[in-house]
Amino acid sequence: RAHGRFFIGGNWKCNGTVESVQSLIKELNDGSVPDAVDIVVAPTFVHLDMVKRELKGPFQLGAQDCWVGKGGAFTGEVSAEMLHDFGIPWVILGHSERRSLCREDDELVGQKCEYALSQGLKVIGCIGETLEQRESGKMFDVLDSQLRAIVNHTSLSNWDNMVVAYEPVWAIGTGVVASPEQAQEAHAYVRKWIADNVSPEVAASLRLLYGGSVNESNCGTLANLEDVDGFLVGGASLKGSSFINICNAEN
Ligand code: G3P
Repeated sequence: RAHGRFFIGGNWKCNGTVESVQSLIKELNDGSVPDAVDIVVAPTFVHLDMVKRELKGPFQLGAQDCWVGKGGAFTGEVSAEMLHDFGIPWVILGHSERRSLCREDDELVGQKCEYALSQGLKVIGCIGETLEQRESGKMFDVLDSQLRAIVNHTSLSNWDNMVVAYEPVWAIGTGVVASPEQAQEAHAYVRKWIADNVSPEVAASLRLLYGGSVNESNCGTLANLEDVDGFLVGGASLKGSSFINICNAEN
C-alpha cells in the first residue's frame, strides 16, 4: 500500500450490554482477518476491561475520548495517563459527536491530541464538515481549521503515532456514505494540506481513514481509492461478521 498498513477502527460509541459485548467479542475472536491490517476497537470505558481480557488476536484497543490534561479533580473524566497505565494504546479524539454534543472546539481537540500523545497514546484524530458547511462551500475552510488546531499542538515526531479520520458529519450514522469521488477529494485535500503544513514525508506515510456509513457492501470500492488508507466504522462495527468483512475489505 502507498501509505503504510491498512487501518480499521471500530468505534462502538455509547453502545453495549455485558451480554452484547460478550457476543461481539466472541464473533471477533472467531473471525479471520488479514495479518497486514491494523485493527483497533474502541468500546466504552465501562467495557474496556472486559474487552481487554477477552478479545484475542490482532485486535488492539482504543478509548473514545480522554481528558485534556493530567488527571485530578475532574469528575466523570478519564485521563490519558490512566489509559496508558491500563494498557490501552489508542484513543479517538475530536469525534464529531463530541465536537457537537459536548461542545469540543478545534482548540480543545488540539490540546487533547497534544496531551494524549505526550502520555504515550496513539491518536485517531477526527475531522469533517457538516452538510451545511459543505453546501455553503466552507468544507475546505473547516478541514483547514480543524487540521490547523491539531498541527499547532503536535511536533513532527508525533505523527508516527497519529492517524487522521475524515468523517463527514452528514455521512455518520445516516446510511449516506460519501461517494468515492467525495471521499477521494477530501482525502487528497488533507494529504496535500499535511504535505504543505507538516512535511511531505509525514503526508506520504500518514494513514487517512474514511468514516461515515461504511458497511460491508461499500467498503471494497472505498478501500481502492488512492488516499483512503482504512476506515473508522461506527454502526457496522457492532456486528462481528460485518466488521470482520470490513477488515477484509482489501481482499
Ligand atoms: O467514528 C465512526 C463513525 O462516526 C461512523 O459511524 O455509524 O456512520 O459508521 P457510522
